[in-house]
Amino acid sequence: MPGIAVFGAQWGDEGKGRFVDFLASEADVVIRYQGGNNAGHTIIVDGVTYKLHLIPAGVLYNSKPCVIGNGVVIDPESLIEEMETLKKQGATLDNLMISDRAHMVMPYHRLLDSLSEDDAGEAMIGTTKRGIGPCYTDKAARQGLRMCDLLSDSFAEKLRVLLEQKNMILTKIYGGEPLDYAGMLEQFMGYKERLRQHICDTSLICYDFYKQGKKLLFEGAQGMLLDIDFGTYPYVTSSHPTSGGVSIGTGLPPAVLTDVVGVVKAYTTRVGKGPFVTELLDGTGDYIRERGQEYGTTTGRPRRCGWLDLVIVGFAARIGGITSIALSRMDTLGELDRVKVCVGYDIDGKVTKNYPASLDDIASAKPVYKEFDGWSGDISHIREYNGLPQSAKEYVEFIESETGVGVGMIGVGPERSECVLRRKYFV
Ligand code: IMP
Repeated sequence: MPGIAVFGAQWGDEGKGRFVDFLASEADVVIRYQGGNNAGHTIIVDGVTYKLHLIPAGVLYNSKPCVIGNGVVIDPESLIEEMETLKKQGATLDNLMISDRAHMVMPYHRLLDSLSEDDAGEAMIGTTKRGIGPCYTDKAARQGLRMCDLLSDSFAEKLRVLLEQKNMILTKIYGGEPLDYAGMLEQFMGYKERLRQHICDTSLICYDFYKQGKKLLFEGAQGMLLDIDFGTYPYVTSSHPTSGGVSIGTGLPPAVLTDVVGVVKAYTTRVGKGPFVTELLDGTGDYIRERGQEYGTTTGRPRRCGWLDLVIVGFAARIGGITSIALSRMDTLGELDRVKVCVGYDIDGKVTKNYPASLDDIASAKPVYKEFDGWSGDISHIREYNGLPQSAKEYVEFIESETGVGVGMIGVGPERSECVLRRKYFV
């Protein structure tokens, strides 16, 4: 009963989409377990670019069951837009299943996300302003609206009560305009009709798949250091992107996972605020940003770039139980004379390999680097590991020796086929 989780081992944007897409070709079912439309996966197939925010990558394999689990927060407007775009691109959505327990991102969540960010000044998180934090806040405060509520006759009344409270906050605290109840209700009744056929108890359906021994692929969004418990709090998202989020976010037993793929970009990026020990604020950082087109899929923001940090990857391997690393963007790092990898943090003269909890410690950490020769030439056509330049192989093998985890897949270009595969999955 193989169950594989794929999650980002850094700050998100590791290039999970292309590996999920590859593994999806062999999976029977693809399941999202957390996050919302703050995520953005880009998948390029035969020159066509697909941008996914909420819908699992399996949708690109026509009629493969795709599940949006209960741990995901869903903005119905954004979901419907994505469904329409994918339909126009020729995808089939008949087998898309949406958890009836998933919480909805409401228009007031989006607004509150924006207002609180704008109000925070220096303390802003740099969120995607998609309403993710406020939605998970309401979930924890037991004031959320779930997909099953949308189908229920009590929806209108629940919305009325909640909107009254939110309008108090919007007007009294932020001095804004109240949101219109009748308009919002009408809007959501439209969503209900559009989404009704997809909403179901996905925990039950996934359990049936699990019992039947189907190959299950769990698709994470964001990444290790954006995890609300283990990330660079408070500069994190509000869910659990690590493999630990799979069970809670789907309703399947923890034992469902037989393999955990940690996606690692050959360098490090992050968007939004927060500490970043190996950040490059120089020409090399700009070079990586331009060569890798490191601009957010969801917000278009330029990403902060830096050297690969194996303190972070080692932390992700431990917390997430990574059994295989998928290394992305080896091609982007090409053409540099020398490349550096961080192997430890020097904090007040003491070197640690463990990622600290305290932002003060992280802020004062100086990276301890090991340097490597760079590699040059176009590597995107290479499919066999031994065909890679010697210096690139040394880089890969160093990652393996430092983390104790094998590198099973290596991305050498953005296309679906531009990948070196070193092991089998779903066996
Ligand atoms: P939120 O998830 O929109 O609340 O944003 C919280 C933090 O997570 C911010 O630093 C965002 O930039 C970051 N973030 C959220 N989603 C992603 C993602 O998919 N990739 C990278 N960073 C993300």
